Order: sequence, then structure tokens, then C-alpha cells
Amino acid sequence: MKKITKAVFPVAGLGSRFLPATKVSPKEMMPVVDKPLIQYAVEEAVAAGITDMVFITGRHKRAIEDHFDMAYEVEMELAARGKHALLRELQSVIPPQVNCIYIRQHEPLGLGHAVLCAQPVVQEEAFAVILADDLIDAEPPVTKQMVDIFALHQCSLLGVQEVPRSQTGHYGIVSTTPLAPGLEQVHGLVEKPRPEDAPSTLAVVGRYILTPGIFHHLAQQQAGSGGEIQLTDGISALLHEERLLAYRFSGTRYDCGSKLGYLKAQVAFGLKHAELHEEFSAYLATRH
Ligand code: G1P
Repeated sequence: MKKITKAVFPVAGLGSRFLPATKVSPKEMMPVVDKPLIQYAVEEAVAAGITDMVFITGRHKRAIEDHFDMAYEVEMELAARGKHALLRELQSVIPPQVNCIYIRQHEPLGLGHAVLCAQPVVQEEAFAVILADDLIDAEPPVTKQMVDIFALHQCSLLGVQEVPRSQTGHYGIVSTTPLAPGLEQVHGLVEKPRPEDAPSTLAVVGRYILTPGIFHHLAQQQAGSGGEIQLTDGISALLHEERLLAYRFSGTRYDCGSKLGYLKAQVAFGLKHAELHEEFSAYLATRH
């Protein structure tokens, strides 16, 4: 039985939709309340029992490496001031059993190319891909839900969600037939189809479990939608050889790649935050 021990985080994107906030700071470091997006993604992987975090980084992304490393000055300062709870929180960002591995994607050639960059580390294992932009509030966390399904079916798996037809052009869209509650057999997928061309309104939203067979297909991919090497196209080629499932996860997804989705996430996570819940909900009640 194959177990998922590695997660790939493609974090080389430019984040142009959030300029000027992302001019010198990676978009994955943008906080939702008090934690950067990439930390939510890593915590989700940890909760799924994953121990090797593979970050595909690019220029101007060094803050991500620093974030998952020790911060001597801050830690010493917190210790000196007796702020032990905060110090413990900071030190537990990465649990001791977890390795962080950084691979540089030299050119922004697309999501498919970014995932291909992970091949030297992932090698012959099935692995998870987590897009930090898609923040998913779920219990159990969505990668854990998917790892459990992988344990049963031992094949590639896509996290999917219904989207309005008008929005199919933002997503990979699957065509499927139902298999079990929440689970569908995938027959085809296409990257960012126009609403009139979309085979369905079931969209892939930033969570994948892939078998290593994907690498061979990604290595052969030509530029697709948007002139980039698309992960969707590689998965579509893999579908000719292997079984592929789509999983309608339970949970709420916030598209933190868009300003509106990011604001919604701030509100939702602000309302859930132990320290803020009361005052923030009282404040929002005054805003109607
Ligand atoms: C990427 C994928 C797309 C997927 C989406 C989910 O697109 O290429 O298939 O549906 O993530 O967020 P991007 O948002 O990077 O353009």
C-alpha cells in the first residue's frame, strides 16, 4: 500500500493580481488574519501525515524559506520578554519530523512545469500538490480527506467543486460520472474552457494527489492555455493510461488568488479567531 509522504507547493508565481502588495513580498506570504497563506497550506499537509514539504520557488521568494526557518532574533526577544506562548507558537510552525525542501523554478513556464521540477525529490512516489492560493476551511482538512481516499483507491485524485458556468474560464474543468457519494470517475479534463465549451461546471480547485506517472507526461507537454505548460494537460494525458478520480471535498474554499476571495477569507477566519471572534462579529454587525 502506497502512502503519501510528500507535498509539492508551487510558489513561484508572480502574484500580479495583488500588486503592489506583491512587488517585493511573495503572494504566498500574504496573511489571512495572522498567518501567511503558505503556512495554512503546510499545516494542512502536516495534518494529512505528510513529512516532506517540497516548495517550487522562484526569484523574490526567499521570505518563504525564512518563514519556515528559525528566527533567532525574534525568538530571543520573545524569550527575554517572557512571551512564552507566542514563542512556542512560532517554534511549532514546522514540527520536528517535517523536512522543507526548496527547488528553484528558473523560468515561469507554468504550473505543470513547476510540478515537474519536483521530480528529483518525489521520484517514484504518489504525492500531493497544494496550491496555497486556494485556502480551504475544512474538518478534517481537505488534504487529509484526499489522502484517506487515496489509501482506498490508490490512484490520482483531484479536489473538485461546482462553480458558476460563467467562471469555467478560470479553472481546470472535468467531465465525470458518479462513482460513490462525493466521488466521480474522470473521463476528461480541460484547462480554462469558455463557458460555452466547458464539459461541465465541476472545477479543480488547488488540491491534487498524483501518481509519479504524471512526470513523464509533463516532460512532454507543449505550452497550452496562456502559453504555459499546464498541469491539467499533463493530467489529461495521464488519464489515457491510469484511472483518475475527482473528489467533491467537504469544506469552504476561498479563492485567495482574487481580491474578493481574499477579503472573504479574512472575514471568515477573523470570525473564527479565538481572540477576535467577539469584537469582530460585533463590529461586522454594525456595518449593515
Ligand atoms: C490553476 C490550474 C487550474 C485550477 C486552478 C485552481 O489555475 O491551472 O486548472 O483549476 O489553479 O485554483 P490558476 O489559478 O493558477 O490560473
